[in-house]
Amino acid sequence: MAATETIAPPRVQDKKMLIDGKWVDSVSGKTFETINPSTGDVICRVAEGDKEDVDRAVKAARKAFESKACRTMSAAQRGRLLYKLADLIEANAKELAALETLDNGKPIRDSLNGDVPATAAMYRYYAGWADKIHGKTIPVTGPFHTYTRHEPVGVCGQIIPWNFPMLMQAQKWAPALACGCTSVLKPAEQTPLTALRIAELAMEAGFPEGVINVVPGFGPTAGAAIANHPDVDKVAFTGSTSVGKDIMKAAADTNLKRVTLELGGKSPNIIFADADVDTAAKFSYFALFFNMGQCCCAGSRLFVEDKVYDQVMNVITERAKKTKLGDPFDHATTQGPQVSKEQTETIMRYIESGQREGARCVTGGRRVDRPGYFIEPTIFDNVRDDMAIAREEIFGPVLSVLRFKDLDEAIRRGNNTTYGLAAAVWTRDVAKAHRLAAELRAGTVWVNCYNVVDTAAPFGGFRMSGLGRELGEYGLANYTEVKTVVVSMS
Ligand code: NAI
Ligand code: MG
Repeated sequence: MAATETIAPPRVQDKKMLIDGKWVDSVSGKTFETINPSTGDVICRVAEGDKEDVDRAVKAARKAFESKACRTMSAAQRGRLLYKLADLIEANAKELAALETLDNGKPIRDSLNGDVPATAAMYRYYAGWADKIHGKTIPVTGPFHTYTRHEPVGVCGQIIPWNFPMLMQAQKWAPALACGCTSVLKPAEQTPLTALRIAELAMEAGFPEGVINVVPGFGPTAGAAIANHPDVDKVAFTGSTSVGKDIMKAAADTNLKRVTLELGGKSPNIIFADADVDTAAKFSYFALFFNMGQCCCAGSRLFVEDKVYDQVMNVITERAKKTKLGDPFDHATTQGPQVSKEQTETIMRYIESGQREGARCVTGGRRVDRPGYFIEPTIFDNVRDDMAIAREEIFGPVLSVLRFKDLDEAIRRGNNTTYGLAAAVWTRDVAKAHRLAAELRAGTVWVNCYNVVDTAAPFGGFRMSGLGRELGEYGLANYTEVKTVVVSMS
């Protein structure tokens, strides 16, 4: 498909929620607006779920989990359903990309060439796993035949954010469904539309009623109801560290449901003087500004070795100037709006705090004078490690650049954070690269690249960036319980 083919913002009808295979209103009859962040206009109204709706969805998911249809479905058949869903996503690629861009604001070139294919790839990857999930035979002492079964964990509550709505849904659904679990998913209130459309496609693919349920709504109501539900076996959450803590507390206070968390970050991206400096600088711009800075693994602390500091600053400030900021439906646009008014205000407060604390705003720093939630790409230098902009996740187009002198200093300061999601190192020195890869406390370390996330490779955080690993084979463990069976042979 030509990259320049025009895709218009779609017209969208009001939306219901999916419970037990039926599209229904909320019990309360309440709805909420989802907003187009490029304009601030209302796109449509969406059924607003609350505790009662979550209850109904959990009952449906439990009934499906225990149903004959699910109990007797072969693993290969589960795989086929996931492959079918991937095919349907591809067949509807343009529509899904347009819906994502409308609801989230990300440039159409990214949703079309990135989010949609990555979503289809995620379903295909786990489709392939469905009939390859199995236990082991274990040689124990005595006349016993001992083996393990990897059984589905059960009813999963899955709460996702707004930065990669479609992809986050796939990251939750694909492994859960491959393992034979059922799901109650709550999309972010800012971006419910693609989750609902993909749920429709999943029903078309043939998943039995109740296997997938989608309850749109807000965090403290619908989200908290999922985290606190005594009949949810496992909760998977992606979002802020503070809500992640609440989810863990809720799980502890109810039924010790299994918890996986993908939370925030303040990832160090370290450029050494012996790197291919221009390439490193170019990718370091992308490391932070991709997706309007709304990435959990954003390279938000750019450490640059003294000797090449000016060279790096030149490249990244030039790139900031060349950024095409504007209508995300325009194929030339590389930076769209932030997702919401609230996020925009938070980001602007961080920009003010950077200025107040004495960092130098080299470029950007202002909201763009047009409707919607646009912020100029903003770069701060003279940043100190103790400033809020160097410590806290901003989740916007704001890069902090920090200067360092040697390797030990880079490791120490790179690790000086409560987070540990990702890190990157740019150097031509192999020994240095491996030393950093070993010493940086992060779930992913990129060497001479950034933002390379693949369905097949595990992703997750050290420390306050999360709990557990998603993606790849590791991601399957989140959705299975290991059962040991011991059979006497005497
Ligand atoms: P959030 O953590 O409040 O929202 C993420 C999801 O959790 C949404 O679906 C929301 O409805 C739900 N939620 C909120 N409160 C809940 C509760 N008490 N119980 C259960 N579910 C709840 O994040 P928000 O407010 O959208 O963004 C705030 C900050 O969080 C961002 O500035 C960013 O720093 C971080 N964030 C990190 C993400 C990541 O990918 N790790 C994604 C989104 C936000
Ligand atoms: Mg929206």
